[in-house]
Parts: sequence; structure tokens; C-alpha cells
Amino acid sequence: MTDAIIIGGGSGMGLALARTLLAEGMDVTIVGRSADRLTTARAQLERAGHGKIGTVVADMGREEDVAALFAQVERVDHVVVTAADATGVYGRSADITTATARSVVDTKLLGAWLVGKYAGGRVTGSITYTSGINAYRPNGSNTIMAAANGALASLAYGLAIELAPVRVNVVSPGWVDTALWDQLGMDKEAAFAELAERLPARRVGTPDDIAQAFSSVMHNGFITGTVLHVDGGHRIT
Ligand SMILES: NC(=O)c1ccc[n+]([C@@H]2O[C@H](COP(=O)([O-])OP(=O)(O)OC[C@H]3O[C@@H](n4cnc5c(N)ncnc54)[C@H](OP(=O)(O)O)[C@@H]3O)[C@@H](O)[C@H]2O)c1
Repeated sequence: MTDAIIIGGGSGMGLALARTLLAEGMDVTIVGRSADRLTTARAQLERAGHGKIGTVVADMGREEDVAALFAQVERVDHVVVTAADATGVYGRSADITTATARSVVDTKLLGAWLVGKYAGGRVTGSITYTSGINAYRPNGSNTIMAAANGALASLAYGLAIELAPVRVNVVSPGWVDTALWDQLGMDKEAAFAELAERLPARRVGTPDDIAQAFSSVMHNGFITGTVLHVDGGHRIT
């Protein structure tokens, strides 16, 4: 038995959320593809709070993995999905392989739908997905990820009706300093400094900024069918 399952909880925003929920006294299960990453995350989390920590190795792009993940769960209060793999997605569409594009859609969009399919009936509180600012402020360099992120809003609206009274929402982060940026092959520090000057918040986000937003959405019983933008004002620049 666990209170929250975080798919993608081995690093970045998902790990920050795990730390937040454990500090609140919840039991948390983190899920990812790499057993080593989960073991490292677990060691970090053991200092975070009193709740129990579980780990499950699963690839949310694979139906059998998502089905098996939820088959071992009788009841869970909250599911949060932060998983994404941005390897090879940064660049113009002409330069992105179709295999990479399919993998993005398989994980981010179809994987999210699989979570709704297999978690429905077991989740009692909420499902929260993670999209991103590129869905709302495209920059011509990550179009397929932007499209998958944008589609998550429609998925959440549909599932919020279908799975009600389970609440289904999306948190849409702006640029956040996590390991995801290491996959993009760009000068992160320069890009962050340039963006921070333009953003109303005058800084990029931290994993804890987004963890706080997830926590609010999970715990507020009147938020459903909503996209919560946590982007330092990026969407209105
Ligand atoms: N960082 C940003 O600036 C930013 C901006 C907008 C939106 N976002 C979105 O925010 C979410 C969280 O990103 P983050 O920055 O926290 O990234 P991150 O640190 O790279 O974390 C992503 C996690 O997802 C796991 N994962 C990747 N593919 C998976 C799969 N197929 N099945 C299961 N787990 C998988 C990874 O672990 P394994 O590799 O071990 O599986 C990793 O622990 C993502 O959906 C991303 O698109 C990020």
C-alpha cells in the first residue's frame, strides 16, 4: 500500500515532489526505467521524512509495464507523472528521427493515457500529468514534445470526466533547472541567464517550485480538469 505513485520520481521535479510528500508523512512509490537511479533517489529520500519509500522499475511507454505497475496496487490516493525522455528531441523537425518522435508520443502521451487506463478504479484522489511551456510558447526546436505536451490538456479534460470523482489535472512547468537539460546538448547556463532576464519572475524554476504546485493540485479537492501554469510568467512574455 502506498499513498502516492510518482512515475519519473527518480530525479528532477518528481524527486522533489517525493521529498515534499514524505515530509508531509505520506508513503511514496517512485517509478522509472533505471534501477540504479531509483536506488540513488531512495538513498536521498530516506533522510526526507517518516513515510515509507517504494521503488518500481517500469517504462511508462510500455503497456505491459504500466499494467503490471497498477496490478500490484489495490488502492492509491494520488498518481503523478513527470516521466519524459528528451534525448534527441531538440532541433528542427527535419533533423529529428521519426523513431525519436514516436518514442516521445509513446511515453508522454500514450503512456499518460495508459496510466489513466490502468490506474482508473485504483486511484481514489487524483492523477496529475506534467506538460510544459513549449506547448504554449513554441520556439521551433522541440515541436513533437510541444505537441505531446499540448495534447495532455485534452487527455486530462477527458479523463477528468471519465474517471470522476477522481480529479485529473496537468501542471505545466516553465524552464526548470533539472538533469533533463543535460539531454538537450545546449549551453544551459547561457540559456537560463538569457531567459531569466526576460521572465517576469526574473529567474528560472527550481524542482521545488514545481513540487509545491503538484502538492497543491493533489490536495485541493476542487481542482480538476485544469492546467496549472508554473512558469515564472513565461507564457505571457
Ligand atoms: N526541466 C524543464 O525545464 C522542463 C520544462 C517543461 C516541462 N518539463 C517536463 O517536466 C517533466 C519532468 O522533467 P524533469 O526536468 O524533472 O526531468 P528529469 O529530471 O529528466 O526526470 C525525468 C524522469 O523520468 C524518468 N523517465 C523518463 N522516461 C521514462 C519512461 N519512459 N518511463 C518511466 N520513467 C521515465 C527518468 O528516469 P529513467 O531515465 O530512469 O527512466 C527521470 O527520472 C517532464 O515531463 C518534462 O517534459 C520539464
